[in-house]
Amino acid sequence: MFGGKNYSLDEYMNECRDSIKYQKGIWYIIEHNHKLVSSIIVYSLPSLDNLLAIGLGSLATKHDERLRGYSSKLLQSIIEEYQKKLKISTFVLYAEINTKFYERFGFQAINQSLQKYNNATCMIRHIGYENFRQIEKFYAENSICYF
Ligand SMILES: CC(C)(COP(=O)(O)OP(=O)(O)OC[C@H]1O[C@@H](n2cnc3c(N)ncnc32)[C@H](O)[C@@H]1OP(=O)(O)O)[C@@H](O)C(=O)NCCC(=O)NCCS
Repeated sequence: MFGGKNYSLDEYMNECRDSIKYQKGIWYIIEHNHKLVSSIIVYSLPSLDNLLAIGLGSLATKHDERLRGYSSKLLQSIIEEYQKKLKISTFVLYAEINTKFYERFGFQAINQSLQKYNNATCMIRHIGYENFRQIEKFYAENSICYF
């Protein structure tokens, strides 16, 4: 079973390849012994004023490679690269797992009243917390179509 549905691996991979959502983003991966172990997708998001933002999605590690730090390493390096080299100040994601995982990387859940889903928590990592209220409202309203 793949993709939360009764798909075979081939069916799931075909759906991923055809997905407009997945084609819009840039995939980053970690390989170990020439095999893909972990991946994440990065989307460009609209800017609020001059604050540059990206969305992160589909973080996943191969089942038998989990709990070895791969996702943490991938997430941390994406944050560092985009923050330092591209001056991205705002990172947005929808957590479908316990939000504590992402809190370690500086993400915080946006206000409950702005959350749109029951099964996913919108979280933002932002440098310069003085704008957070404005930022969380903006991305709650303007980011869903990217994920
Ligand atoms: C969640 C996931 C990406 C973690 O990948 P990983 O490579 O095992 O993660 P790491 O080894 O870097 O980190 C392990 C830590 O994450 C924690 N963790 C793992 N799964 C978790 C979950 N579902 N909720 C919260 N924390 C979780 C572990 O407890 C561990 O904590 P520790 O360091 O205190 O022991 C992986 O379990 C996965 O692919 N899950 C299915 C896809 C998914 O749900 N992705 C998240 C979408 S928002």
